[in-house]
Amino acid sequence: MKTLLTTLALAAGLTAVAQTTDTHELVIQTKKVGAQIQPTMYGLFFEDINYAADGGLYAELVKNRSFEFPNNHLQGWKVAGKVEVKTDGPFDRNPHYVRLNGSGHGHKHTVIENEGFFGIGVKQGEKYRFSVWARTTKAGGSAKIYAEIANTRSMGENQGLAGTEIIIDSPEWKQYEVVLTPSATEEKAVLRLFLRGQNGVDVEHVSLFPVDTWNGHKNGLRKDLVQALADVKPGVFRFPGGCIVEGTDLDTRYNWKNSVGPVENRPLNENRWQYTFTHRFFPDYYQSYGLGFYEYFLMSEEIGAEPLPVLSVGLACQYQNDDIHAHVPVDELDSYVQDALDLIEFANGATDTKWGKLRADMGHPEPFNMKFLGIGNEQWSSLFTERLEVFVKAIREKYPEINIIGSSGPNSEGRDFDYLWPEMKRLEVDLVDEHFYRPESWFLAAGNRYDNYDRKGPKVFAGEYACHGANGKKWNHFNAALLEAAFMTNLERNADIVHMATYAPLFAHVEGWQWRPDMIWFDNLRSVKTCSYYVQQLYSHNKGTNVLPLTMDGQTVSGQEGQDGLFASAVWDNETNTYIVKVINVGEQSQPLTLNFAGLKKNVILTDGKVITFHADDLLKDNTVEAPNTIVPVESSLAIDGNVLNTRIGAKTFCVYKFVKSSK
Ligand code: AHR
Repeated sequence: MKTLLTTLALAAGLTAVAQTTDTHELVIQTKKVGAQIQPTMYGLFFEDINYAADGGLYAELVKNRSFEFPNNHLQGWKVAGKVEVKTDGPFDRNPHYVRLNGSGHGHKHTVIENEGFFGIGVKQGEKYRFSVWARTTKAGGSAKIYAEIANTRSMGENQGLAGTEIIIDSPEWKQYEVVLTPSATEEKAVLRLFLRGQNGVDVEHVSLFPVDTWNGHKNGLRKDLVQALADVKPGVFRFPGGCIVEGTDLDTRYNWKNSVGPVENRPLNENRWQYTFTHRFFPDYYQSYGLGFYEYFLMSEEIGAEPLPVLSVGLACQYQNDDIHAHVPVDELDSYVQDALDLIEFANGATDTKWGKLRADMGHPEPFNMKFLGIGNEQWSSLFTERLEVFVKAIREKYPEINIIGSSGPNSEGRDFDYLWPEMKRLEVDLVDEHFYRPESWFLAAGNRYDNYDRKGPKVFAGEYACHGANGKKWNHFNAALLEAAFMTNLERNADIVHMATYAPLFAHVEGWQWRPDMIWFDNLRSVKTCSYYVQQLYSHNKGTNVLPLTMDGQTVSGQEGQDGLFASAVWDNETNTYIVKVINVGEQSQPLTLNFAGLKKNVILTDGKVITFHADDLLKDNTVEAPNTIVPVESSLAIDGNVLNTRIGAKTFCVYKFVKSSK
């Protein structure tokens, strides 16, 4: 039942005019502090898709730095003069390197030039660390190379932006390092390595990093991108991906053991997103593993998120492999199960264990205190459950404290979903990873999805979701973000069983994407937070500590018939003594709204009122790297009269209302 509210509207000239309007009264039961909201509730899902790792988060600027791209060991490089690719290098898992021979003439040159990832982005006055493993090709004497960052698009006299000569003084392999400081900003520079003189040099693992990485780590991550992640205050960080965990075949699955240890000797992996979509084809997309499990754990710790690694269950991508022989037979899973057990030891084990020692040697003697482990990504049928069962048994036996995450498959409902949920209960996994990339109609209708879930079974991890828009609108835009916000009221209301949620995917390079929408876009120098990012951030920053019941006419506010496109949820934050109400109006009309904080004691007043409003005039637009701050949440203060707020929420708007509980 809607109540009749008499509001005072101030007409021009400050004349008070009485108006009678139907309002939507949302009743928040302040006395019924409900389920605890998990610290992990709102998190991040990282997948190495869209050049999210190499060419993105991983700050290395040189592509194919170890000359291991298998189809062409000089892919990404231009060469001039006398250059040979050799195979007996110092790193056994990356054996290729390049020999720069004297050109034979004082006016000819031997040079290799790296194109980077869609170019090499450098900023004027910033420091870049160039390093190379090198040796002279002849015993005795020395040789010289000249490392240069160059702008090939320059109309100036000199293409060089920064350069320095390095003397290679030994026939033994050594790492040489210099810092280069470009004289200008350039998004698409190249790195050149000239041989100076006629004495030859062998070069391997040619690298260029900004010195100013996230937390200054040497094998570091792009600062602006990690900062954007930290700014979400994520509770959990799922990595290294979805489908890349599985691989197109087992050989190309993500192998965490190849991603740890000295960076020069981490073998290359094929990135399946190179060719998964031939309509977005990227023949130079590989995984250097330079951003590996150690770096993921470290970053999770530094941004305050629980690490949540996902491992292969022994199934190659089921979409791409009908043949049973593509997968690991159930009775041959030992090494896969051992990978899982060893990962737990790597993350949490004492420094006198094999894998704990490696973690310590890499710089982190303290355990990472990993609590969650995903086994398998989007898997289905008994192929999955019979394999998962083997993992569950082994992990429970050795590490009962680890929370195991199973899966309900790639779909939000349907045959596989219906088969898998009971199976996940039977296997007693701790959480079930649900995925839903669905259209607007689904998001609008899913406002009560979790209300009737079994409260006793495993908890829900909404591990990948995004609104994909209808009629091919599969790109980032405000309306999709708004519907995600609406749907999330349902996660929040059911926080007793929904323990984690992560939007997907996280990153996309504007020139290298295979999948949209994504949370953060970037080019070589800039990054941009999308509307979906801001929705995630608003929820995370305002997640509170406990659910509060919120109803309209005794019903949940979930876009139901007669609710005029409203979705809402409420939480209490006992750390800041704040009531937080999230309301989303997905409708075309603004709506009158009443927030009734019911049950407050007489000596309580609500103070420090705020409303954060998120709205875009053009529903199909989003922020871009060129105009990153076009659609952003806006905060303003708000007065409340007693325990009732009478207000309006605009059409197509997400509002977060906050009031501090104070004493009179
Ligand atoms: O993130 C994009 C892909 O979507 C993931 O790899 C997969 O899990 C899902 O299908």
